[in-house]
Amino acid sequence: MVLEIDTVQARIEREREFHNKEFAHSERAKVSNVYLVTRRSGERYKQFLAQQAPGKQILEYGCGANSYAFWLAGLGVQVVGIDISDAVIQQSQQRAAQYPNSERVSFRQMNAEQLDFPDDSFDVICGRAILHHLDLRKAFGELARTLKPDGQAIFVEPLGHNPIINAYRNRTPELRTADEHPLLMSDLKLAETYFGKVEAQYFHLGGLAAAPLAGTAAFDPVLNLLDGLDSVLFSLLPYLRKHAWSVVLTFSAPRKADAISQFSAAV
Ligand SMILES: C[S@@+](CC[C@H](N)C(=O)[O-])C[C@H]1O[C@@H](n2cnc3c(N)ncnc32)[C@H](O)[C@@H]1O
Repeated sequence: MVLEIDTVQARIEREREFHNKEFAHSERAKVSNVYLVTRRSGERYKQFLAQQAPGKQILEYGCGANSYAFWLAGLGVQVVGIDISDAVIQQSQQRAAQYPNSERVSFRQMNAEQLDFPDDSFDVICGRAILHHLDLRKAFGELARTLKPDGQAIFVEPLGHNPIINAYRNRTPELRTADEHPLLMSDLKLAETYFGKVEAQYFHLGGLAAAPLAGTAAFDPVLNLLDGLDSVLFSLLPYLRKHAWSVVLTFSAPRKADAISQFSAAV
């Protein structure tokens, strides 16, 4: 038991240190062409939030240094961003101090696996590229606990089945933490223990081929075409979905603690 606690704390500390360094000296610029092709999943995330968020209480889970909280505050949302990295929280608080709607935004350093919020606190919980840094049983449990019964959560996450994308990940270990784990289809299944409704939308397969065109006039039309083809492929050939780079997950009907135990016992 003591060993387990030590192991968990060591993992959380590795995440904190890595992201403190990353946000001080961003490595992202090196791979920006690759990340540019993920535009469509980002648009889906923003579209969901623009529809669901106004007037609501929102948690941005693992907000990072490029938080959406400021954009959300502009929609009239009360938003709290949490992250394990103290550097992220400091930078975000400094940005908030200069921001016109800053009374609607707050940031707190917090472990996403052990949230310091009461049950049923949030209408919406959102996050990008955070779940795959976490122990999913703990994270899903905390999301289900703190989401209001009629609340919804949305995440954009990487998937871990595509051998070509995994080969790229193996070649760029400096860009990732030792403990991160792009999601598997079994992880999406696990979410069903914690939420009565789990929906997944898949993005970016052929679209990755547009990356070398970034910065040229051909990039936008080629990416749009390839994204459109991906959407048709994922709809016609469900087997291909797990090979997508990104999945947009929406969770609703959170199960509270007793219901989770009952559901687990029944399946
Ligand atoms: C890949 S970054 C994504 C950041 C941001 N959501 C974005 O899209 O730019 C992962 C973030 O998760 C945070 N993180 C990792 N483990 C965490 C934990 N246990 N609790 C809270 N935040 C955590 C990191 O500090 C980092 O900011």
